[in-house]
Amino acid sequence: MRNIVVFESENHKFILLNESEPGEEDGIRSNQYLILHGDDGVLLDPGGFGVMPRALAELLGHIGPDQIRGIVLSHQDPDIVGGLATWLELTGASVYVSRIWMRFLPHYGIKSMHRFIGVPDEGMPYRVAPGFELQLLPAHFLHSEGQINVYDPVSKILFTGDIGAAMLPLDEDYAYVDDFSSHLRYIEDFHRRYMCGNRAIRAWLETIAELDIEIIAPQHGPIYRGAAVGDFLKWFGELECGLDLISAGGKFRARSDD
Ligand SMILES: [Fe+2]
Ligand SMILES: [Fe+2]
Repeated sequence: MRNIVVFESENHKFILLNESEPGEEDGIRSNQYLILHGDDGVLLDPGGFGVMPRALAELLGHIGPDQIRGIVLSHQDPDIVGGLATWLELTGASVYVSRIWMRFLPHYGIKSMHRFIGVPDEGMPYRVAPGFELQLLPAHFLHSEGQINVYDPVSKILFTGDIGAAMLPLDEDYAYVDDFSSHLRYIEDFHRRYMCGNRAIRAWLETIAELDIEIIAPQHGPIYRGAAVGDFLKWFGELECGLDLISAGGKFRARSDD
């Protein structure tokens, strides 16, 4: 799935540049997003090394690499950071990532950290350019110990990283979740095992409670819109996961009543 314009107004766009195909990455398919405001762009979770050429090709249809002002990494995983060294060479962008991952990123072949900004645990406003402001919000332990979300107040889109991520089978390919109940089967196991616990979910829901969210854009799988946004948040708020379910011997209860 390529180049889906999720939101568009006169001078502002939120674009799903590329959802990688399984062949491009040996691992899970991932989404790379571009927020464009006038001539300035911000890239969200640019992806692994294998998807970099395709994401760049799609990006060039919108702007040049020199117009990328910032790159936000929701967390430290290789499906997000693997291609970053090349993006740093192509662009002059600053990179925003949770402060707790700063010392680990050089292991991705990144020679200098001088363009990196460690986002504090409480998050921070990100003023990209005059009139182009994003909010970096904490979403820790969902699943990464230092995860940040990005809220775009113009499009009312919340980029959630791995929250809401779906593992679609190879023969399923749809861009948007409209009916949450039929989508649930593709997110349930992932969230039970990869999300760290319901306490973290509750803290996150409180963090985002005041935001006007029309769309949730995750790093994997289709984008939530309409009633599916509220349906997902309600389901997630009640989910037991990770530490709620773990027991000796590496066993996880499938459900609270098991
Ligand atoms: Fe992850
Ligand atoms: Fe991920």
